[in-house]
Amino acid sequence: MSESPVSMHPGPIQPLVGTTLREHVLSGMQAAPGATGEFTSLINHLSLAIRIINSRVRQAGLAGMLGYTGNTNVQGEAVQKLDIYANDVLLNVLERSGHCGIIASEEMDDPVFTQHPSKYIAMFDPLDGSSNIDTNGTIGTIFGIIRRKVTDSKPTLEEALRPGYEIAAAGYALYGPATQFVLSTGQGVHGFTLDPSIGEFFLSHPNIRCPQKGTTYSVNGGNRALWSEGTRKWAEFLKASDKASGRPYGSRYIGSLVADAHRTLLKGGIFAYPADEKSPKGKLRILYEANPMAFLFEQAGGMAIDGVNRILDVQPKELHERTPLVLGSVEDVMTFKRFQLGQQV
Ligand code: AHG
Ligand code: MN
Ligand code: MN
Repeated sequence: MSESPVSMHPGPIQPLVGTTLREHVLSGMQAAPGATGEFTSLINHLSLAIRIINSRVRQAGLAGMLGYTGNTNVQGEAVQKLDIYANDVLLNVLERSGHCGIIASEEMDDPVFTQHPSKYIAMFDPLDGSSNIDTNGTIGTIFGIIRRKVTDSKPTLEEALRPGYEIAAAGYALYGPATQFVLSTGQGVHGFTLDPSIGEFFLSHPNIRCPQKGTTYSVNGGNRALWSEGTRKWAEFLKASDKASGRPYGSRYIGSLVADAHRTLLKGGIFAYPADEKSPKGKLRILYEANPMAFLFEQAGGMAIDGVNRILDVQPKELHERTPLVLGSVEDVMTFKRFQLGQQV
């Protein structure tokens, strides 16, 4: 009798004990000269804030946490209850950590300056993809951490207005079917999945690499009439048939940067929120959306530009400044750039 391809007796089940987020960050920092443990503690505080936000996101429909507050933020966007909740949790946890002299957020007009001497600046989008909250779509939290150049002086806004290449750590949390934490401290990109039964993040996606080229593109095609000619031609190019280069590309767009970028990071391809007639500077914010994502993509071997120039080189002038953002596989981002410059592809 021939053997069934599906064995009725699988081998011994591997115990699900792996590297925790804390162990991972600790082992990376042990190699750092002069490490004091503060950085590890800061990431642990971020992980705590994310677990608290996650718990509320999971119960939002039952806990009266859906819907709008009736207020608008500094950028004129309608604020939802979860935006504020997530902001307050992060602010609270980071203030208590004692590691951040400056805490800036999409939901706060001005940064919060703390009193104590402190080494770090934290910037975050507390809840990204808020238009997906009420429909149970994937949302997330994005953050970037910069080291202060002076640690014992009174913090200033200018300290936060630094180009992304100075980022010490960046990451995001995804509140999707699973809760994941994707982090880079400058030594590659690593993904962790929350085991909700014990409240611990375990390493599930070590050393994420963004493929050199993908087969999907992610853009709000509803803005087509507002795009530049280069952007329109780029989209037409990806939709045209050419077997050798994998076209036509598939289209995937959720409208949560975290979710669209996460898929692009793992599977390759391109995400674009380009400049358009309505938003000549793009929609996404440099300091707490574009920069952390650009840092992660470069760390994973991908690329992030504003259409032409490297995102991480941009010198921000304002806290809530916007930028066009194009990120993903190197080949796909280069193709976008060529169309912007009117070059032959
Ligand atoms: P936020 O919810 O933090 O305001 O961010 C929303 C952003 C981003 O997540 C997404 O990529 C983009 O808005 C979607 O914009 P459109 O609805 O214009 O496509
Ligand atoms: Mn956002
Ligand atoms: Mn947001």
